Amino acid sequence: MSLFKRDPFRFVAPVYDLLVRWFLPVQRVREHLALPTEGRLLDAGGGTGRVAGALRTHARDVVVLDYSMPMLSQAVHGKGIKGVQGEVEHLPFVSEAFTRVVIVDAFHHFRDHSLAAEELWRVLAPGGRLVIEEPNVDRWYVKPLAWLEGVLFGSRFYAPAHMAEMFRRLGANVRVDASGRLNAWIIVDK
Ligand SMILES: C[S@@+](CC[C@H](N)C(=O)[O-])C[C@H]1O[C@@H](n2cnc3c(N)ncnc32)[C@H](O)[C@@H]1O
Repeated sequence: MSLFKRDPFRFVAPVYDLLVRWFLPVQRVREHLALPTEGRLLDAGGGTGRVAGALRTHARDVVVLDYSMPMLSQAVHGKGIKGVQGEVEHLPFVSEAFTRVVIVDAFHHFRDHSLAAEELWRVLAPGGRLVIEEPNVDRWYVKPLAWLEGVLFGSRFYAPAHMAEMFRRLGANVRVDASGRLNAWIIVDK
């Protein structure tokens, strides 16, 4: 159950980049992605294209996928990034289309996490890498924030080891970096 069921991001889209500016730097995600890549990069649940914008010179092509049109329009109109409206549970891309996939602060918002994992794995090219940045709910001080977000937005958070297991089941090589004070990174190799 959540208080803002239908696209809660429509309210914050115009000011989203400003709001998260100080809290969500992209350095670590960039390092884990082992860029540059000759292939295409997908930013899934990429919202305003904040992360994709910072990575755009490190891949042949960068695409943001998001279901929120108000968020996506900030990427397409504000930053000139390619945007695709859609759900991560049903990715509108052919298999093995991307050599890199990134998800920042979005996995807990997804509706069906197993289906999302299967779809992300499907569109990742052999030899490719997927990096997920998520708040680390193994940290005691993250738990109350995760609970509140669950109540407000219906978000569902998983411990890093649990997320790693979702991809190991699909045959992935997975590494977890839990060294962040707030975030953990799940690094998935195909
Ligand atoms: C907190 S924002 C993060 C945006 C971006 N990754 C960033 O770090 O700036 C979460 C985004 O995930 C998107 N989202 C949530 N569930 C989704 C789904 N099932 N499919 C696609 N996008 C989704 C939301 O619309 C929102 O733009």
